Amino acid sequence: MMLIGRSTGKTTRKNVRLSPEQWPEETWSEDIELMRRAGVNLVSVGIFSWALLEPTPGRFEFGWLDRVLDLLHDGGIQVDLATATASPPPWLARAHPETLPRRADGTILWPGGRQAYCPSSPVFRERSLELVRAVAGRYADHPAVVMWHVSNELGCHNVHCYCDVSAEAFRGWLRERYGDLDGLNDAWGTAFWSQRYGDWAEINPPRTVTAIANPTQQLDFLRFSSDEQRAQLRAERELLKTMVRQPVTTNFMVGMDIKHMDYHSWAPDVDLVSNDHYLTAADPQAQLGLALAADHTRGVAGGDPWLLMEHSTSAVNWQPRNVAKLPGQLRRNSLAHVARGADGVLFFQWRASRAGAEKFHSALVPHAGPDTKVFREVCQLGANLKALAEVRGSRVDADVAILFDWEAWWGVELDSHPSVDVTYTDRLAALYGALWRAGVTADIVHPSADLSGYRLVLAPTLYLVRDVDAEALHRYVQAGGTAAVTYFSGIVDENDHIRLGGYPGAFRELLGVRTEEFFPLREGEQVRLDDGSVADVWTEWLHPDGAEVLASYTDGPLPGVPALTRHRVGAGAAWYVGTRLDEPATDRLVARLVDEAGVRPAAPAPSGVEVVRRRDGERTWLFVINHTEAEVRIPAAGVELLTGARCAGELTVPAGEVAVVREDRV
Ligand code: GLA
Repeated sequence: MMLIGRSTGKTTRKNVRLSPEQWPEETWSEDIELMRRAGVNLVSVGIFSWALLEPTPGRFEFGWLDRVLDLLHDGGIQVDLATATASPPPWLARAHPETLPRRADGTILWPGGRQAYCPSSPVFRERSLELVRAVAGRYADHPAVVMWHVSNELGCHNVHCYCDVSAEAFRGWLRERYGDLDGLNDAWGTAFWSQRYGDWAEINPPRTVTAIANPTQQLDFLRFSSDEQRAQLRAERELLKTMVRQPVTTNFMVGMDIKHMDYHSWAPDVDLVSNDHYLTAADPQAQLGLALAADHTRGVAGGDPWLLMEHSTSAVNWQPRNVAKLPGQLRRNSLAHVARGADGVLFFQWRASRAGAEKFHSALVPHAGPDTKVFREVCQLGANLKALAEVRGSRVDADVAILFDWEAWWGVELDSHPSVDVTYTDRLAALYGALWRAGVTADIVHPSADLSGYRLVLAPTLYLVRDVDAEALHRYVQAGGTAAVTYFSGIVDENDHIRLGGYPGAFRELLGVRTEEFFPLREGEQVRLDDGSVADVWTEWLHPDGAEVLASYTDGPLPGVPALTRHRVGAGAAWYVGTRLDEPATDRLVARLVDEAGVRPAAPAPSGVEVVRRRDGERTWLFVINHTEAEVRIPAAGVELLTGARCAGELTVPAGEVAVVREDRV
C-alpha cells in the first residue's frame, strides 16, 4: 500500500499489508529492501495474528512482532498496527462454544474461515479487549507505529448473528429504542398477523419463519446488527485512546455492495476514514464503481481526505472469474482514488501467499517475484505518489450531491414489495454513471448533510426517509436549489410505515405530484415516453398537482400518464422521475439537470476520460485519467506533476495514462 508524501513533500508514503508471519525470517530483509525500492513507506501489520500473538489463553508471544517492527523501523518504514482482534484463535471457540455465530436457521458457523464470533458475545469482547490491552501496552511507544487499525472489515462475515446471546442483546437494544412494549408493538405493527408481544422475552431476532417476517422487526435487527459491530469498534478505540497517541482507524467497505454497516453513523468513531475497495471484475465499466465508492467514502468522511486502506494490484481470488488488471490499470485505479480525495493508496497484500484461502489473490510481490509487470508498476506508482505529495490534505470540488442512506437501502429491499426489480443501488449507479460520463463530480452524502453548497441534489430510491430530512430537501429547493427524486422514494417513515395520502409520501408536496397506484412492469417489459425515452421495471398512476409534465407514457399500462415532471418551488425546482429510464434517457435527463443547475464538469473531456479537481484554498489540481485507447487533449494550464512538464492551455494525455496538473492561478 502507499500513501502520498507528507505535505512537506519530502517523502512519499506507500503502504502495504505485511503478513510476515507467513514467511521465514530470511524473507523479511528482502521485503524491506523491495519496499524501499518501491517507495513503500507504511505497512499494516498483524491484522490476523491473534492466534500467533496469544497461542494459548493469556500467554502472549510478541518476539516475532518485535523483530518485524524493529526491522521496518530500521528500514524507514512506518506501521499501521492492527489490534489483531479480527479473527479469534480456535481455542476461543473450544473453550466458549457460545461465542460462535449462528445463522437465522440456527446453523453454527465454525472456526476454519475467519471472523467466527458472535458480535454480541461478552466473552469475545472481553478477550479481544485483553488482546488490545496487551498489544497497545507493548507497542504504544514503538517509533515505527504511526496508526492503529482496529480489527478488520468489521461485519464482513459475521454481521448478523441469531444466537441466544444475540437475541438477548437485541432485546436490550429494543428496550433502549422503544422504552416499553407498547412503543415496540406500535412501531412493528404487531396488530397484524397476531404478533403482539406481551413480554420482552418473547422477542427474537428475525430467525427463519414460516411466512414473511415482520418488516420492522427485520429493519430494527439490521440497525441493531450495524450498531453491534460499531460497538466493537468503539470499545477497542476507547481502550486505545487511554493507551496510545496515534490516530485510530478501521477499514470500512463503502461501495462494495456492502449493505449492512451504516458507515455514516460509524464515521465519528474513527480519527480518519479508511476504506477498502475491489473492482467488480465482471463489470467492463468497473472504473465507475471505483469512482462511486471513492466519492461515497469522501461523503462518509464529511468531505475530508481519506485513506484507501486496501485495493488490489491485479486480480482478487473471491469473485467467480478473477480478471487480472491490464498494464496501466493499477495506476489508473490508484490515482482515481487519489483524485477523489484519498491521501494514500494501500494494497492487500505485500507478498502473494503460498498457502491458505487467498493464495491466488494478487499482491505487490507476486508469486513470480519482483521481475514482473505488477512489481514494476508498483514501483512506478511509488514514484508517482512522491510527485503528488503537494496534493495531500486538499479537498475535492463537487457541485452535486447524491443522497444515500443505508437505512433506505435496508428498507427498500425488504420482502413483499411491489417489484423485486426495484433495488436500492440501481438508480444510484444509473444517475452516478450519467454524471461520470458528463465529467461531473458528485459527493455521495447522507440526507441529513448540509445541502446548501450544492447546485444539484439527486435522491435515488429514497424509500425510507425521516420527516426532518424530507423537509431539509424541501428547504434546499425553496432556497433556489435543483433536486431530482426517483420513483419509490419517500414511501415510508423510519418505522417502515406507509406515508398516507398518495405517493411519493414525504416528497408529494415538494414534487407537486400525487400517485394513486403503482404499476410495476413484467420482467423485460419496456415502455416508451413521448420524448423518445425508453424505460422498464416501473410505472405509476401519477397526477400532477402543481408540477409541469415533461414526458408521458405512450404505451404500457398507463398511456398518457405523466412519467417525468418538474415543479417550481420557491426559487428552485424539483424533478420527479416516475420510471426506470434506460441509459441514453438517463444521460439526457442528467444533462438537462446539470444544465438547469449550472453545474460544469471539472474540464471538458471526451467520453471515457475521468476529470476531477482537488483544491486547497487557491491552489487546484486537475486529475485526468484516460480510460480510452486514444490520446486525448484537455484544456489545462499549469505544471503536470507526474512528468514535470508545463502545459500552456492544452494537456495531452496518451491512451490509458494519467495526468495531474497543478493549475495556474487565474
Ligand atoms: C478484504 C480483507 C483482506 C483480504 C481482501 C481480499 O479486503 O480485509 O484481508 O481478504 O479482502 O480481497
